[in-house]
Amino acid sequence: MIIGSIKENLASEKRVSLTPDSAKNIINLGLKVIIEKNYAEHLGLKDDEYKKNGVEIKKDASEVLSSSNLILKVNCPSNEEINLIKDNTIIIGIMNPNKNKEKLKSLIQKKIKIFSLEYLPRITRAQSMDVLSSQSNLAGYRSVIDSIYEFEKAIPMMMTAAGTVPAAKVLVIGAGVAGLQAIATAKRLGAVVSATDVRLASKEQVESLGGKFLTVEEKDNLETKGGYAKETSDEYKKKQSELMKEALKKNDIVICTALIPGKPAPRILSEELVKFMRPGSIIYDLAVEQGGNSAFSEIGKVNVINGIKIVGVKNLMNKLPITASSLYAKNLFSFIRNLYSREKKVFNLNMEDEIINKTLIRELN
Ligand code: NAI
Repeated sequence: MIIGSIKENLASEKRVSLTPDSAKNIINLGLKVIIEKNYAEHLGLKDDEYKKNGVEIKKDASEVLSSSNLILKVNCPSNEEINLIKDNTIIIGIMNPNKNKEKLKSLIQKKIKIFSLEYLPRITRAQSMDVLSSQSNLAGYRSVIDSIYEFEKAIPMMMTAAGTVPAAKVLVIGAGVAGLQAIATAKRLGAVVSATDVRLASKEQVESLGGKFLTVEEKDNLETKGGYAKETSDEYKKKQSELMKEALKKNDIVICTALIPGKPAPRILSEELVKFMRPGSIIYDLAVEQGGNSAFSEIGKVNVINGIKIVGVKNLMNKLPITASSLYAKNLFSFIRNLYSREKKVFNLNMEDEIINKTLIRELN
C-alpha cells in the first residue's frame, strides 16, 4: 500500500502532512511513502531528510496523486488534483465540507473514500488524532504572542528604579482548547488573566491555570453531552453583555475564542461594548473565520476604532507552520495506525469503529 502526499497551495497553506519522523513511523507499519520533489523545502526540510527515513521522492504532484492508495492532505484538494487521483483511493485531511461541497461530491463520485478529521469524536481513544485540539492549542498560544506584538506596552509587572510598571490585564473569552492555552501563555508572560465561558465545567480549568473565572449566573446547563457549548438565550446575552462591559473597562487585551460547533460564532462584543475599552487596547478575534466574536473584526485585517485595535486573524497556522505540521503529522500517523490492519495488510474501513464511522464523508446534501 502506498501513502502519498503533495505540497499544499503555498499561497495560503504552509503546513505539510508528513514530516520525516511521521513518514518513518508510517513506513514502520509496513507501508510505502512517496512525496513530490521539494515537498517541505519551504519549511527548511530537505528531500534528503525524508529519503534518509525511507521515503521515495517523485518528480511532481501528479505522479504522487496517480500512484497512491492513500493520500494525506492538509486541505481539500483542488479540482486539478481531484482529476489526477485514482478511483477508490483514500484521502485524509481537514476537508471543511461546508466550504468544499462540490469538490467533495466529485471525489465521492470517483468512489474516493474521504476522511475529514474535523469530525473526529472527542473520545479518549481519538485524542492523539485530534487535529482540532492540536491546532487550536497552537492558535491559543500564538494569539497571545501576536496581541503582545500589537500592544504598545509591557506585559509583566516590573519594579524598577524608575518606577513600577503595572502588569497588563488579559481577558480570554471562551475557555476551550485555544482559550486555555491563551490563558496559560498570557500567565507565563506575566499578565493578570481572567476568562469567561458558558460551560461551568471550564471554571476549574481556568482557575487551575491561575486565571480568574467570570461568569453569568444561569440555572440551565449550557453544555451539551459531548462537552460543547449551547447557544445562549437573549436573557443570558444581556447578562453577559453587562459582565463584559465591566471587564472591558479594566482589560488591555481580549482574546476571543468562543465557538459553537456547526453554528456561526456567537457575537459577544457589540460595537457599543468594544468602545468601553481604553485606547491602545487590543481585541484579537480567533473566531473571525466563523463570523467573529467581536464587532469590527474582519478576516486578515487590523481595524482601529477609537484607538482600539481589533485584529481579525487569517491562516494563523502559517505563522508557526513547522510546529503545526509536526503535530498535524503525528495526528495523521495515529489515524493511519488505527485504520491500517498490519495483519491483513489492508485499510480496514470498519464502520463499527466510531472514529472511522464519524470521519468518513459518505454523502453531502
Ligand atoms: P470550541 O472551539 O468549540 O469553543 C471554544 C469555547 O467557547 C468553548 O469552551 C465553548 O464553551 C466556548 N463558548 C461558546 N459559546 C460561548 C459564549 N457565548 N460565551 C463564552 N464562551 C463560549 O471548543 P473546544 O476547544 O473544541 O472544546 C470544547 C469541549 O470539547 C470542551 O469540553 C473540551 O474539554 C472538549 N474537548 C475534548 C477533547 C477530547 O476528549 N479528546 C479534546 C478537545 C476538547
